[in-house]
Amino acid sequence: MMEFRHTSVLLRETIDSLHVRPDGTYVDGTLGGGGHALEVCRLLSDKGRLIGIDQDGDAIAAAQDRLKEFKDRVTILRSNYSAMVTELEQLGITSVDGILLDLGVSSHQLDDAERGFAYRADAPLDMRMDTRQTLTAADVINTYSEQELARILREYGEERFAGRIAGRIVKQRETRKVETTGELADLIRNAIPAKYRNEKGHPAKRSFQAIRIEVNRELEVLQDSLDGMIDLLNDGGRLCVITFHSLEDRIVKQAFRRNENPCTCPPEFPVCVCGKKPKGRTLTRKPILPTEEETEGNSRAKSAKLRVFERVIQK
Ligand SMILES: C[S@@+](CC[C@H](N)C(=O)[O-])C[C@H]1O[C@@H](n2cnc3c(N)ncnc32)[C@H](O)[C@@H]1O
Repeated sequence: MMEFRHTSVLLRETIDSLHVRPDGTYVDGTLGGGGHALEVCRLLSDKGRLIGIDQDGDAIAAAQDRLKEFKDRVTILRSNYSAMVTELEQLGITSVDGILLDLGVSSHQLDDAERGFAYRADAPLDMRMDTRQTLTAADVINTYSEQELARILREYGEERFAGRIAGRIVKQRETRKVETTGELADLIRNAIPAKYRNEKGHPAKRSFQAIRIEVNRELEVLQDSLDGMIDLLNDGGRLCVITFHSLEDRIVKQAFRRNENPCTCPPEFPVCVCGKKPKGRTLTRKPILPTEEETEGNSRAKSAKLRVFERVIQK
């Protein structure tokens, strides 16, 4: 495996927001190379515990190495964070003091051409974070309908030439499948009118992001997981989520709002009759953003937003 390279985003801000108690139990649901997890471990006593989850085998191997000095207090699992509740149950854990999600892909995944995420390289179209999964980017590109492809490129990539790109893909595959990242990047480039090609970075950047989000079901998984994570938290426990995409951020913001104010009674009702009680409060009315210094040193941080929810258990 090539060396694992990834700079953790919003590191200090996230660790401060997590409020680590030395004897507490914490979960990093997107362990990656273990950058955030290492800082959590440094604050734990030998009674504290960190459970790290990642669906990517390379990330697991890198984190095992990075966290080896703390192996007595760390458990690393190759899994999807959507299975967090059941994975923890199997370890005999039913509640925790804090959960962290740092969404999206690691620089390692993007840089390793063989993983098929990179529009600057030429490798089989793959983009699976979990290589045990069957759906690949090649399947999406070669089997989805033109309408579906256009929707994905428009919604997940905010690509204004989504329709033209989807049309090109479908036309190309009538004669031969699109097999590699290089072929797809060229096809996208040629579908975009020349004067807009280099408007916002590489012309294939937005479409590659969109396809990656689809292959890994990133939005569905996030949407289906946050309520369960909030339920796992002990009183005062915190859920910290770093997003990199406006749709992800919206899902997080809405989940926090729903858990802060779950009452579904019509506003004209004088008292609540639905019985749904708030589960806690959002600590970040506005998301925490990286400093200019951080974005200068790490362009990946530019779109990062951190939101924090604190569980309050009503007595
Ligand atoms: C941005 S990186 C995390 C980097 C890490 N915080 C660090 O500082 O080194 C995101 C990681 O989350 C993993 N990931 C993304 N979605 C996941 C999911 N649904 N379940 C488990 N892991 C996921 C990816 O494989 C990737 O390794």
